[in-house]
Amino acid sequence: MDRLKRIKKVYKVFILYNEMIIRIADKNDQKELIEYLKHYNKPEIINNRVKCYTTYNKTIIAVEDNNIIGMLQWYIKENPNAGVAEFEEIFVNPNARGKGIASELVSFAIKDIKQSFESLNIKPRRIFLFTGKYNIAARKLYEKFGFKFIAELNNLFSDNEIETFYCLSF
Ligand SMILES: CC(C)(COP(=O)(O)OP(=O)(O)OC[C@H]1O[C@@H](n2cnc3c(N)ncnc32)[C@H](O)[C@@H]1OP(=O)(O)O)[C@@H](O)C(=O)NCCC(=O)NCCS
Repeated sequence: MDRLKRIKKVYKVFILYNEMIIRIADKNDQKELIEYLKHYNKPEIINNRVKCYTTYNKTIIAVEDNNIIGMLQWYIKENPNAGVAEFEEIFVNPNARGKGIASELVSFAIKDIKQSFESLNIKPRRIFLFTGKYNIAARKLYEKFGFKFIAELNNLFSDNEIETFYCLSF
């Protein structure tokens, strides 16, 4: 069976980007995803988060040679009927950056969020996110997809960093 047929058999929704697969992570990816969240330091929190983001919430991954090289997590904020989701934990391995992988993850996630709400008969309304004021690569990435800068917020995740709040309206 050729590669594409094999992939189609295993995953319902995916895209091929160069030699990579962009797809929704599932339970089989949990072990590898744990490695991405090691900086949370507490194994129980990491395990719970990975479980949560491969069941109710979503993790979109870029996979090359069977290894995860980038990921983006998203979840539905508060009452699903509001049609609002947040992007979290967007990360591409340092040696794979600058090749459009984050762009593919963002593009996939926007479509996935839209379809997820629509499948529940809910009008998708907004995606929001926070990113560091001086994280130029991330800010440019989001702006490229139509996210609008809304506000700055001091001391959100630490006492000496400034976050920016971005929104994409459907
Ligand atoms: C931010 C990050 C996810 C971008 O990943 P990437 O795969 O390199 O991004 P892409 O190649 O898809 O680039 C997308 C856009 O981002 C911008 N960009 C990416 N790298 C950039 C850089 N070093 N400087 C300026 N802009 C940059 C560009 O606008 C680019 O679009 P273009 O190529 O059409 O001009 C990656 O640098 C990363 O993992 N950083 C560490 C984690 C992080 O900061 N996450 C975001 C926290 S909210």
